[in-house]
Amino acid sequence: MDPVKKKVLIKTYGCQMNERDTEALKVLLVEAGFMIAEKEGDEDVVLLNTCSVREAAELKALGKAGRLLKKKKTHANYKVGVMGCMAAHKKEVLFKKLPGLDFIAPPKALHLIPELIRQSYVGNANQMAVPEPASFNFSCYEHTYPKPKAVAWIPIQQGCNMACSYCIVPRTRGEQQNRPFNSILKEVQEAVQWGTKEIILLGQIVNTYHDPDSKKNFVDLLEAVQNVEAVKRIRFISPHPAFFSSQLMQAFKHLSKLCPALHLPVQSGSDRILKEMRRAHTKAKIWEIVETLRTIDARASISTDIIVGYPGESEEDFQETVALFRDIKFDMAYIFKYSPRPLTWVAPQEQSLMGIPEKVKEDRNQCLLNILTQCSTEYNRQFMGECQEILIEGKAHRGEHQLFGKNIYNKKVIFAGPESWINTFKSVQINKITASTLEGKVVEDCGALWDGINNSEQG
Ligand code: SAH
Ligand code: SF4
Ligand code: F3S
Repeated sequence: MDPVKKKVLIKTYGCQMNERDTEALKVLLVEAGFMIAEKEGDEDVVLLNTCSVREAAELKALGKAGRLLKKKKTHANYKVGVMGCMAAHKKEVLFKKLPGLDFIAPPKALHLIPELIRQSYVGNANQMAVPEPASFNFSCYEHTYPKPKAVAWIPIQQGCNMACSYCIVPRTRGEQQNRPFNSILKEVQEAVQWGTKEIILLGQIVNTYHDPDSKKNFVDLLEAVQNVEAVKRIRFISPHPAFFSSQLMQAFKHLSKLCPALHLPVQSGSDRILKEMRRAHTKAKIWEIVETLRTIDARASISTDIIVGYPGESEEDFQETVALFRDIKFDMAYIFKYSPRPLTWVAPQEQSLMGIPEKVKEDRNQCLLNILTQCSTEYNRQFMGECQEILIEGKAHRGEHQLFGKNIYNKKVIFAGPESWINTFKSVQINKITASTLEGKVVEDCGALWDGINNSEQG
């Protein structure tokens, strides 16, 4: 088989981890001589990079795989593979549900996929499952970036050692594995050579990071990234509230490039439910983090993840979440309806005895969304008339000559400008706000480029 003639399409579901894996795989495939199909239609091989975190995500990918498999009737030698989180825990089920499926590869087998595709052509075999390697090969992420970009998502760990009762991720991505410090810095250096200005450190519990080869911890890593001159902004996602040290909180004060925008997944505002969820943090801890950050920067953006309708969540429990949500005034939130997952700590009988009806989940979801709209509109209103430094990320889906970028508070800003501005900083005067975006006009200069909260005396 001559891989040069084979075009591979990857469809990605789920979180940024999957997005980053897809990007890394594209580089590996090109290095192995494959071509990349950017849109559906002319591919010879399709890979679905799947997510298992909620049932709906799995059903979506299964439906898509079923439709793609039909192409086999008209396209000789068309290959379909499933990778990502579903491939880690659904091996047999996938082959049964998707007759004709050629291969599956769990997240840890990312680096083996080019060879797997080659094998599927050589032997013309299907139903191939790569045995899960013991560990993740982080060097996959060190390969050259395919194109310049303003923001780079850099994985610093794989897997998770927590045991949140509702969550399947430890079963799909395995035990927490920290990426060597030097490997992370190598990728940061690589990214800035491509013009990247903002680094987002990525992992399931980033604040438990420690270098496997030394005593360096997450704050040491933030400091090392801060010391890379070409990096202008740093963010991270997701930290776990239980592992916020005062050293990490102070990093928001001392590290000038660390943006005052924190994603803090609280999941619930009821200590009883948090305990049931085995979340290892309380409401008090959340408040401690929020208040500390707000004394450092009163405007700090604080976003979250919430699950509504966890088994046994009473109206009283939910009202505690409502109160927390309203009092903290999160300016952005992902609100999820609890989805029962296999292999998690919530036993099936607990699910059926204590399960919350769909209608109640829906109402609770809507209730939080309404509060979110109010809080995010109010949060965004403070930028009205102000000039903000924006790192321009790309073209906005808003018609011609519209660009988008973010301010340090992670707020999306839309304005007119030429494509040549992408990946540069511009000063934008905000003249319109909604719950989700700011709009404005590029102006000459709004003072010195943001160089950390220390210089604006917000702390
Ligand atoms: N490691 C991150 C989040 C990983 S999963 C953390 O601990 O915050 C992303 C989000 O999906 C979670 O924060 C949670 O809100 C949601 N989630 C996970 N399992 C879920 C389930 N079974 N049903 C609904 N939402 C779920
Ligand atoms: Fe899942 Fe909890 Fe780990 Fe996040 S910390 S990935 S929610 S088990
Ligand atoms: Fe991400 Fe979904 Fe896997 S959220 S880690 S792709 S289960």
